[in-house]
Amino acid sequence: AKEGFGNSKLQFTAIKPVDKAVDAFTVPEGFTWQPIIRWGDPLFNDSPEFDLNNQTAAAQARQFGYNNDYTDIVEIPGSKGRRAVLFTNHEYTNENIMVPAGYDPVETRAIGRAAHGLAVVELERKNTTKPWSYVKGAPLNRRYLSDTTYELTGPVAGSSLVKTVADPSGRAIKGTFGNCSGGTTPWGTILSGEENFNGYFVSAGTSASDKRYGLTAKPTARKWELDDPRFDTRNAGYENEANRFGWIVEVDPFDPTSTPKKRSAMGRFKHEGANVIVAESGHVVAYMGDDEKFDYLYKFVSKGKYVEGDRRNNMNLLSEGDLYVAKFTGNSPAAEITGTGALPADGAFDGTGEWLPLVVGGKSAVPGMSVEEVLVYTRLAADKVGPTKMDRCEDVQPSLHTGKVYVVCTNNSDRGTGTKEGATEVNPRTQNRDGHIVEITETGDQTSTLFNWTLLMVCGDPAQGDVTYFSGYPADKVSPISCPDNVAFDSVGNLWISTDGAPSGIGYNDGLFRVTLDGAERGRVEQFLSVPRDAETCGPVIHDDERTVFVSVQHPGEEGTFEAPHSFFPDYVPAGTTPAPGQVRAPRPSVVQVFRG
Ligand code: FEO
Ligand code: CA
Ligand code: CA
Ligand code: CA
Repeated sequence: AKEGFGNSKLQFTAIKPVDKAVDAFTVPEGFTWQPIIRWGDPLFNDSPEFDLNNQTAAAQARQFGYNNDYTDIVEIPGSKGRRAVLFTNHEYTNENIMVPAGYDPVETRAIGRAAHGLAVVELERKNTTKPWSYVKGAPLNRRYLSDTTYELTGPVAGSSLVKTVADPSGRAIKGTFGNCSGGTTPWGTILSGEENFNGYFVSAGTSASDKRYGLTAKPTARKWELDDPRFDTRNAGYENEANRFGWIVEVDPFDPTSTPKKRSAMGRFKHEGANVIVAESGHVVAYMGDDEKFDYLYKFVSKGKYVEGDRRNNMNLLSEGDLYVAKFTGNSPAAEITGTGALPADGAFDGTGEWLPLVVGGKSAVPGMSVEEVLVYTRLAADKVGPTKMDRCEDVQPSLHTGKVYVVCTNNSDRGTGTKEGATEVNPRTQNRDGHIVEITETGDQTSTLFNWTLLMVCGDPAQGDVTYFSGYPADKVSPISCPDNVAFDSVGNLWISTDGAPSGIGYNDGLFRVTLDGAERGRVEQFLSVPRDAETCGPVIHDDERTVFVSVQHPGEEGTFEAPHSFFPDYVPAGTTPAPGQVRAPRPSVVQVFRG
């Protein structure tokens, strides 16, 4: 399709922002919404039906998990658009609203574990104008659970830094936890980022790496350390267990018997996700954010080259390559960056940048650290080379239309407080409540180590007096937006942004927004949908050629309790009525489709 927002088949009138107290899923006029799959939906022929008041770990392991975050929907080749595979990860659990107060604690912990991980589910529809349904018992359906074995690949595989008494090989890791965003590769695999993995482990908390990764001696929120010694790295033989998490995971949704991989060459940090683009040279480049206040932006360049149609070759590209971390330099005088978000005199937050090497050509570029150490303790390695401290990089995604890379900085309430670093041109707001988005243009090929950058937007609600910037587009003509998190592109190159955290900032529920990137309308933000109370918007997946949008609704009603729910999404069973089969009067994280009709 021709580029430019006017050439998309998906046209809509922006919705008004929805107050944070409202428990509703809101779409534009002329559109309707429907869940495709919800927490607890049975995936296999032997799966028990969801029983909200009597949930078990055994049932949960055969059902759709909790808190779906990264989502993609890929058509199955040869199905004439009538079958697709849905991938989601299940980032974390909200036990306070999953089981009644006083539920058996051992079973509750096991339910929590079984509700984490990943899911692959087949979808079907009668024809390309109809909405999708998931297919129970379909051949590709799979749950990846806490005992699923992942193969660690790349330079750290077999290293003494990742061996445990249960895995002396240092190559076979059980489970994935805290998976946040992700990406879909040009060869059809899915990447998923292990983000807040530290929250699953008790550790001594005294080493430099424990401190840098937030590993402490406090009991964890879910207390899995009571069930399995590996969740307490003070236990003999499990000292390295936490080193086996914090990676990018790669799975093949088209092969339910395949062994998922953890890609050590891409470094270990609180990976939000990874998104891949093929460079002109054929090397593949992955962009990755470390979602922590004042942490860094990374780039991976594969050693091997992409070969169109050679899936076997391409499936190994992320196992070996170079790793870089970003340094941004602004072009305006420091005195003009006031911390309010107001533009400097040259009228732009912009400048140049450099990708600083951490591993190049299989060798460490960091003095005093081996390749294995750089990749396991990537934050410590990066600290030594002087990269730019960012305001929590969430999704980082290249446009396949332009090659420009969008770095979503969600917020950073600590910037400029106490002894913390103050505003810089690339992170120009102190106590950054609403976040901003950086646009990177590589100089030359995508593998270049030099780039130019400019801010696409500084978020907020102009109507409430926030200082904002939308690439010059009139601030009184945009939808208010706060805490951008996940992004996707439509078929004509518009950027779509989902948010997480708007209620506590601008006071509106989180949502999904379209942003025009080119021409006179550049910077125009239009809200497409709004999610229910306490939820964040994830995914998103934009099939604008079919006038359909998909989002994952994560943690609806999470501030409530099981007994006093904040949300009844998505079943919305009226009080005092008997739920229809399969429905419950309680919040359920779900994947939702929005379509004309
Ligand atoms: Fe799980 Fe960075 O959001
Ligand atoms: Ca400037
Ligand atoms: Ca996220
Ligand atoms: Ca988030």
